Amino acid sequence: MNDLSYHKKKLVFSKTDISSVAQKYKTPFFLYSEEILSRNYSSFSDAAKNAGLNDPLICFAMKSNPNRELVKILAKLGSGADIVSGGELKRALEAGIPADKIVFSGVGKTAEEIEFALKKDIYSFNVESIEELELINKLSRKHKKTARICFRLNPVVKPKTHKFISTGNKTHKFGILEKDVLDSLKKKSLWTHSRLVGLSIHIGSQLLDLKATGQAIKRLSEIALMTNISLEFLDVGGGLGVDYHPDETKKMPQISEYMKLVAKHLEVHFYSKTDLRPRVVFEPGRKIVAKAGIFVMSVLRNKVSEDNHFLIVDGGMNDFMRPAIYGAYHGLLPVREAKNQVRCHVVGPICETTDCFASDRDLPKLQAGDHLVLADTGAYGYSMGSNYNLRGRPLELLVKKNKELKVVNRPQKYEELL
Ligand code: LLP
Repeated sequence: MNDLSYHKKKLVFSKTDISSVAQKYKTPFFLYSEEILSRNYSSFSDAAKNAGLNDPLICFAMKSNPNRELVKILAKLGSGADIVSGGELKRALEAGIPADKIVFSGVGKTAEEIEFALKKDIYSFNVESIEELELINKLSRKHKKTARICFRLNPVVKPKTHKFISTGNKTHKFGILEKDVLDSLKKKSLWTHSRLVGLSIHIGSQLLDLKATGQAIKRLSEIALMTNISLEFLDVGGGLGVDYHPDETKKMPQISEYMKLVAKHLEVHFYSKTDLRPRVVFEPGRKIVAKAGIFVMSVLRNKVSEDNHFLIVDGGMNDFMRPAIYGAYHGLLPVREAKNQVRCHVVGPICETTDCFASDRDLPKLQAGDHLVLADTGAYGYSMGSNYNLRGRPLELLVKKNKELKVVNRPQKYEELL
């Protein structure tokens, strides 16, 4: 059975009847599945091994979903973490991810965050500017350490994805250009308390076409060889997409295909030209957790303004931002199956026109109190939410492997917002 499908007219997620959960807990809430999360992680990790990649390390991109219980599950499966803040570092460590499996990306690391990460001896700082390297080297001297540095290379490629989540070109704030990487290696003063141990790329997110990924791995390999340093790892980043829309299902590369492409490009452009055998690091977020979560809402009321039928729900763009900021498509499924009869706009309570989960979507006639699911919301859902309009953050629930339901984050109360 599909992870989210109807069974006797009732919508079931990861073998759990959603209506029974919605009767017990107040909407809106996120519902996650331990089984799907674990399966997604294992498929990714097994595919990397099956493609013959050297000692792969999967660093889950914490920004996609830093829920403590979810990260704990991944930690137990052996996952590392890709972090971008001191908060994410604390969360990863608390959840049991060892420091030597943590890579720290991001263009704006503060001195405080760097010192904390140095003290914890993280696997690597994925450095995004020369000034950042100067600061890390200085702080590393202060703490009598040698910082492990990985340059995030800007490979100057153009992946096919939404422009807001494309990161691999010159005009983007991310990564360092080839020339700057190579020039900095000549400046001894930058390396007194730092050592280059890796090179990384991350060219964008929700990638369904892997052409640019191949080009970027080629650049990564060529420049890694040009450093003349015996690097411990090559980090190919995250970005592998999922099928949010049914039309994307055919386009979506399988994990095994993606791993074959990574392995092939590394073999042709790196391993075949050297005796060095650096391990391969990955930073997936969406592919691991997007399909492991749904967002359950209640219908508040219908409003028909001439030709426009608005279905007003209790979840808003503050809870789930992707449709509002990227115009992203997410499936909408009523918890009780029925024939589609109305074409409507599914909108939330937030005072913004962009607070709209779907425009012109065909749905059955729904009434106040009926439940509706926004699909594939495990990644970049709760983590991007806000208190806009002074709304408390929603409840997060987990269906465990034994089918038990666990509250993994209670809803925020008004008192906690002040
Ligand atoms: N590594 C780095 C350095 C990143 O910046 C990101 C995502 C990842 C890994 C994980 O990428 P993934 O495998 O999840 O595609 N809010 C947007 C996505 C922003 C991605 C930011 N960086 C969305 O909802 O589509």
